[in-house]
Amino acid sequence: MSPSSSPKFKNPRARHNFQGRTGSITGVGAYVPTRVLTNSDLEKMVDTSDEWITTRTGIKERRIAAADEFTSDMASKAAQRAMKAAGVTGEQIDLIIVATITPDMVFPSTACLVQQKIGARRAAAFDLEAACSGFIYGLEIAQQFIMSQTYDTVLVIGAEKLSSIVDWKDRNTCVLFGDGAGAAILQNRANSHGLLTAVMGADGDKSDLLYMPGGGSRCPASMESVSGRLHFLRMEGKETFKHAVQAMVKAAKETLRRCEVNISQVKCIIPHQANRRIIDAVGERLGATPGQLFVNLDRYGNTSAASVAIALDEAVNSGRIQRGELILLVVFGGGLTWGAALIEW
Ligand SMILES: CC(C)(COP(=O)(O)OP(=O)(O)OC[C@H]1O[C@@H](n2cnc3c(N)ncnc32)[C@H](O)[C@@H]1OP(=O)(O)O)[C@@H](O)C(=O)NCCC(=O)NCCS
Repeated sequence: MSPSSSPKFKNPRARHNFQGRTGSITGVGAYVPTRVLTNSDLEKMVDTSDEWITTRTGIKERRIAAADEFTSDMASKAAQRAMKAAGVTGEQIDLIIVATITPDMVFPSTACLVQQKIGARRAAAFDLEAACSGFIYGLEIAQQFIMSQTYDTVLVIGAEKLSSIVDWKDRNTCVLFGDGAGAAILQNRANSHGLLTAVMGADGDKSDLLYMPGGGSRCPASMESVSGRLHFLRMEGKETFKHAVQAMVKAAKETLRRCEVNISQVKCIIPHQANRRIIDAVGERLGATPGQLFVNLDRYGNTSAASVAIALDEAVNSGRIQRGELILLVVFGGGLTWGAALIEW
């Protein structure tokens, strides 16, 4: 049964669809750097093995940006591909949101650098920091601006150069992450397909599970902060794993409940690509079949805010998703933060 013929799917936009305005994704794009770092490359860098990384995480390789390739460069390339797919020029973009924890600089925002690179002279621009959950936060913010009739065309990007904050001497974390960018153009499309609803959540009580101590106002760069390796990310893997599964399942269920949609009606579930075991646990608890889950972390590892954005681009461009079908995005990250979004493609 197709979603639209479901008796339960009569008014899926109960919360969104304000006066007929819906943020519809009219184009997606992604970019990953050319350099591939395999598990066997990592065996030469830290005390690890392809067998350990593969069985514990599902990751086989990840992409690493060149020394002179920055988050704004990857973000701009992904954005240009999304703009081409949507048939949108830089001049038509009203707002640019870049979700990232690895901006080119503390300020100005990476979004301003992207604005210049893609020639979006009319656009307002800002960065959003919700760690790995950033792309869904960005989609929801874009949707709100469209529904409030503030903007018609919003560019949302998730982009990361995580290789710049990974401690390449820490085997607990360095095997997990990679670089890349994904982008989506959201446009006002009255009474059309689009973002049906989104859930966002956060829990600052657990901010110490995944964080980077140095570089902010609490611990600015100094000789001590550098020698103490405080400018690299830190993570409590086991605790993070547990909270990730719980929060992703809860957010996904709330999203489906709001739209009165059953998991079997969802064509493709795109979870944050952090660990294959997290993805499988979330899928199982949602009652999904393995075939519904989209997985590409074997090739890219965890690219944080770029993760579901890159996966969405691959799912769409590989023909896995057709217009009218339902996609469930579900994410989790440092903060802690989490989110889920149901999209009628
Ligand atoms: C990080 C993670 C893969 C570790 O898997 P795990 O099954 O929990 O493994 P453990 O932490 O129990 O570590 C087991 C052992 O492997 C070792 N180990 C850790 N990394 C290793 C590596 N790269 N290679 C070999 N051994 C490694 C540990 O030192 C530990 O050894 P010990 O038992 O002698 O102390 C897993 O916890 C995880 O994915 N967590 C969530 C991470 C995540 O999603 N983060 C991003 C959220 S956005």
